[in-house]
Amino acid sequence: AGTSRTGAGARSAAADSAFLKACRREPVPHTPVWFMRQAGRSLPEYLKVREGIPMLDSCMRPDLVTEITLQPVRRHKVDAAIYFSDIVVPLKAIGIDLDIKPGVGPVVDRPIRSRADLARLRSLEPDDVAYVAEAVGQLVGELGATPLIGFAGAPFTLASYLVEGGPSRNHEHTKALMYGDPELWADLLDRLADITSAFLKVQIEAGASAVQLFDSWVGALAPADYRRSVMPASAKVFDAVAEYGVPRIHFGVGTGELLGLMGEAGADVVGVDWRVPLDEAVRRVGPGKALQGNLDPAILFAPRTAVESKTREVLTAAAGLPGHIFNLGHGVLPTTDPDALTHLVDYVHHETMR
Ligand code: CP3
Repeated sequence: AGTSRTGAGARSAAADSAFLKACRREPVPHTPVWFMRQAGRSLPEYLKVREGIPMLDSCMRPDLVTEITLQPVRRHKVDAAIYFSDIVVPLKAIGIDLDIKPGVGPVVDRPIRSRADLARLRSLEPDDVAYVAEAVGQLVGELGATPLIGFAGAPFTLASYLVEGGPSRNHEHTKALMYGDPELWADLLDRLADITSAFLKVQIEAGASAVQLFDSWVGALAPADYRRSVMPASAKVFDAVAEYGVPRIHFGVGTGELLGLMGEAGADVVGVDWRVPLDEAVRRVGPGKALQGNLDPAILFAPRTAVESKTREVLTAAAGLPGHIFNLGHGVLPTTDPDALTHLVDYVHHETMR
């Protein structure tokens, strides 16, 4: 009974998977592969089950979440599943008035920009996302030896959507708040850290084998600002889930200058986009962490020989690492040919078979 509360029993079947071994920097039978945004996006079977169902509604239906999460595992034989949801789901669950607009992304009706607005960010209780625990439980049963990765948005990236009111290129309102009212900013990020921690705990306690914290847009910051204004909140999230002992992955786009700090925040695995080769990334991250990445997702639109050649470059750069999880440098692009992904998984497995 004690183990079921923490999800340890549920995730034991996946403990010896190549993915978890690589996260722990143990020897692997082959380099494990999964893709950010592998669930949803280009798969025809995904478009079919999602037909007529708004994105956020689909996230609240355990049977649909289970099916969509399993689709890329069945089709591509990836080494891990990522839970089908979105980074704004916990915000929606505490009553923030937001929606996900197709082709646009998350849009917030009333942006959060003042001390009074902050009161709308109440804490997340497990009951607010009971459907998540249900879907995770269902999934780990179906997945067996294949690990399930839970995830959440990091405080900075969530704050960007909340403060801007939607996707943003320059994050001007976010930075105005960060530089103009550091105290309010710190309080905002601290609240988001608590919401994010609670959301990750629900997934881990239901049986997720690893978690990834997406700080997709934090590459917009200089290292000194990251250290002062963001790192404390991200570190709080990693600390909050440390007790479970599941690998913690940290990823952002354009974060070449932040890789060391993102590891220092408390990650066990640092995700790298395609701009920094992995042999250079390991120098920036330092010892004791595994790396995840980093094929440019746009390469998948090139002919197969070009994909294979760029993949060999990634594998060569990663050859000396104690822990490497192969992934794209960012999410699968919506018009990617699914067969290119299936072939890529097979190719990496074949090239790295020990
Ligand atoms: O990775 C997976 O396959 C699991 C599912 C997943 C989704 N969103 C489903 C989704 C994950 C891990 C996310 C994370 C997410 N969401 C991030 C971090 C990852 C990253 O890409 O950097 C961010 C920044 C978001 C916010 C968000 N939600 C964006 C930018 C978009 C895309 C808008 C678009 O259509 O281009 C969404 C919507 C979204 N999230 C879709 C899916 C399958 C598309 C929904 C639809 O088309 O109806």
